[in-house]
Parts: sequence; C-alpha cells; structure tokens
Amino acid sequence: MALATAPPTPVKRFSANPFIAFYQSSIGKKIVVALSGLFLIFFIVGHLLGNLEIYLGQDHLNAYANLLQQLGPILWAERIILLLAVVVHIVATIQLAMENRAAKPKKYAKSAHQASTLASRTMIYTGLLVICFVVYHLLQFTLMWTNPEYRNLHDALGRHDVYHMVILGFRQPLIAVFYAAAIFFLATHLSHGFESVTQTLGINNRKIGRFISNGGRWLSWLIFAGYVSIPVTILLGLIK
Ligand code: HEM
Repeated sequence: MALATAPPTPVKRFSANPFIAFYQSSIGKKIVVALSGLFLIFFIVGHLLGNLEIYLGQDHLNAYANLLQQLGPILWAERIILLLAVVVHIVATIQLAMENRAAKPKKYAKSAHQASTLASRTMIYTGLLVICFVVYHLLQFTLMWTNPEYRNLHDALGRHDVYHMVILGFRQPLIAVFYAAAIFFLATHLSHGFESVTQTLGINNRKIGRFISNGGRWLSWLIFAGYVSIPVTILLGLIK
C-alpha cells in the first residue's frame, strides 16, 4: 500500500550577493519597508513645518515656497529620492503580503486572516487612500492641472502666491473635508506603522518597543492636528 506523503516544501534560494540575500529574506523586506517609511515620515514632518508658516503670514509662506523652488537640482534630487522611497515602500509591502499568503496552508487561511489584526489589514487600504490623495494634491498644488488659475497668483514681490493658492483651495468645503479625511487616513497609517515596526523587530513587549509605539502614536496624531488645522482655520475664516 502506497503511503500518502505531504507535498515537499519549496526551498527558498538566496542570492550570493549579501544585499540581495538580505532583501530576499522576510525580515530584510520588513526593514526596508520600515526604513523607507521613516524617510517618508521625515518628509511629512518637514512639509508640515513648512506649511505651518501659513500662520506667520503671506510673506513667510511665499518666501519659504520660493526658497524651495530656488533649490533647483537639490529639489529635484529630493523629489527623486522621495519617489524611490514611495516605490520601494509599496513594492516591498506587496511582496511581503504575497509571501505571507503563499506561506499559509489553505486550511488555515481563514483563521490566520481572523488572527491578523484589524490594523494590519487596514494598513493596505489607508496606504492606498493616501497615495490617491497625494496624486490629487500634486495635480492641485504642484502641477496646478485641476486649477490652472493658480498659476496667475503672484504677490507684490512677483513670487508665486502659495499663501493665496492654499486659501483659495481650502475655501471650498468639499476640498477641505477631502483633505481632512485623507490626513486622518495618513495618521492612522503612520500610527499602525510604528506599532508594526516594533512587532517586526520583536520588541513590542519591551520598554523601548512600547516607547516607539506610544511615541509614534503621539507623533501621528500631532501630524494630523498640524495638517488638519490648516483647512479648518481657512474654512472658519480665521486665515484670510
Ligand atoms: C493642509 C495640508 C497640506 C497643505 C496646505 C499642503 C501644501 C502643499 C503645497 C502648497 C505644495 C506645492 C509646493 C510648491 O510647489 O510650491 C505641496 C506639495 C507637496 N505636498 Fe503638500 N500640503 C499638505 C499636505 C500634504 C500631505 C499630507 C502630504 C503627504 C502625505 C503632502 C505631500 C506633498 C508632496 C509630495 C508635494 C510635492 C513636493 C515637491 O514638489 O517637491 N502634502 N503641498
């Protein structure tokens, strides 16, 4: 009588190149997701600090935006690195999800799904929503395709009047609400991101892990408060 044997488990082959081998491992990909995410957080915080200059008045915000434009090649280098970080973050996340799915035996698939936290499942959706928001945001304020009239806004010094562009944008309640919702999804994504980094590093039950998780949660909601204050104050007519 022939004995029933389990199908052989595929053996994963790793590259001889240590960098590629690192990326091929699951922990390597998780670290790449975390590091690219950290870089994106630096941009998000920097961008927020720049945008908060709106509270200092038209001259401050326009001078800041003008300075950025003057950076020329440095600005382009930053944009390319930013784009690369976004692509790497997404590609590594997709590959991790595919590997996780392939590693799960079919009969356990349902219970494994139930065991996965709501946070980890919502990460994909909040991430996708943030990407959709950024695409719209670039079309609105950077490329000005949605509102070509913004191109004609100039201040007394002949600089692009970013201050009035932002005010005109957020005076439309629908746009302000859309931004508030997108920033909420961004904060949720960041907050869960910090939590999952501590899990990846296996330090979620240690003091340092709890510090990163709680600190990350605070930072995420501070980011939310800072960004969302702009459409809210404009809509309330506090900035004119
Ligand atoms: C109240 C919220 C926000 C305001 C008022 C705002 C404002 C702006 C403005 C005025 C620009 C164009 C700068 C210029 O070309 O002169 C810009 C660009 C940009 N914003 Fe925002 N932003 C906000 C939220 C966000 C968020 C939440 C993100 C990311 C998740 C983001 C990502 C970007 C990116 C990637 C660019 C392009 C940067 C570049 O061209 O180098 N923004 N933003």
